[in-house]
Amino acid sequence: MRSRHSFVMRSTAPDARHRLPVVRLGALLAISALVISACTGGGSGSPGASSSDGGDGGAAGGYPDQNITFVVPFSAGGPTDTVTRLIAEPMSEALGQQIVVQNVEGAGGTVAAGEVSQAAADGYTVLMHHIGMSTAPALYSDLPYDPLEDFKTVGLVTEVPMTFIANNDFEPNTFEELIAYVTENADTVTYAHAGIGAASQLCGLLFQSAIGVTLTEVPYEGTGPALTDLVGGQVDFMCDQTTNTSGQIQAGEVKAYAVTTPDRVASLPDIPTTEEAGLPEVQVGVWHGLYVPADTPDEVVEALTAALQVALEDQGVIDQLAELGAAPVSLDRATPEAHSAYLEEQIGVWGPIIEEAGVSAD
Ligand code: MLT
Repeated sequence: MRSRHSFVMRSTAPDARHRLPVVRLGALLAISALVISACTGGGSGSPGASSSDGGDGGAAGGYPDQNITFVVPFSAGGPTDTVTRLIAEPMSEALGQQIVVQNVEGAGGTVAAGEVSQAAADGYTVLMHHIGMSTAPALYSDLPYDPLEDFKTVGLVTEVPMTFIANNDFEPNTFEELIAYVTENADTVTYAHAGIGAASQLCGLLFQSAIGVTLTEVPYEGTGPALTDLVGGQVDFMCDQTTNTSGQIQAGEVKAYAVTTPDRVASLPDIPTTEEAGLPEVQVGVWHGLYVPADTPDEVVEALTAALQVALEDQGVIDQLAELGAAPVSLDRATPEAHSAYLEEQIGVWGPIIEEAGVSAD
């Protein structure tokens, strides 16, 4: 029978740890608003913002002629936020309008997705979401939107490896030692993640299930605050995207144990893969994509897709992502059609895994 649990998101609460549910994945493991760029006049936005600043963009029947808001469903400083801000500048230049990034945190990204699904379908409110768009239907029985029905996809953006990292005082020094230590000390070890449905939680679930332990999970509202506490030693270890762990790894602020992709990450060449380190079933890459409300006109979506494609070919974006261990998707995947097909496929992949695990955000 599926177990049901309630979760409380915390931004910093190391002494208020939750014992989260026993997770059994069985054999199923396959698994602040900020103006970014000012091309024309100023101003900031919010979901559905409609202030006009008289821009001269004209990609689709005058669209865009005002600021565009990109809604990020996790906190500033996290991976989704990082990727969004990277592509926002070249997209802004391509569209001839400012892009305002707004972080709407909560409930594994579902608060933001719910808000954008209800926003005006005019292309001025755009959701950037990650793999959580595909896991939410299985995690939330009362999801206030349907990922496939209530949005139009603009295109996939990136795929990002994940890394297992720990604070420097945590005893294990290798992935093999981590497995042994966690197995022996499951009742005291703490695992940080960016909230229910976050990729960092899913990675942790895979890990726990693979080695047959249940850990105390410490959920945060995003990777930014989770990493801060990890570096500070308030939590032991976590698994999150290289976009936000690479800096700390390279600066020696955290220990890195393994990457979750089949191949090593070029910018982190000394870190073994989970497969090399003996846990091949723990493999997960995080993808990001852009969405608009379902009734958005096709020509508006086309304008956004065209700008996205410009951003993904921007050498500065490519170089910065590479430094962070990530890469843009190929342009044939940065389309509404490819993105829709992939979203549907991913919902089909994650639904049964989450169901089997008995994990619920209800
Ligand atoms: C996650 O674990 O899902 C992400 O790191 C959340 C984020 O982008 O902050």
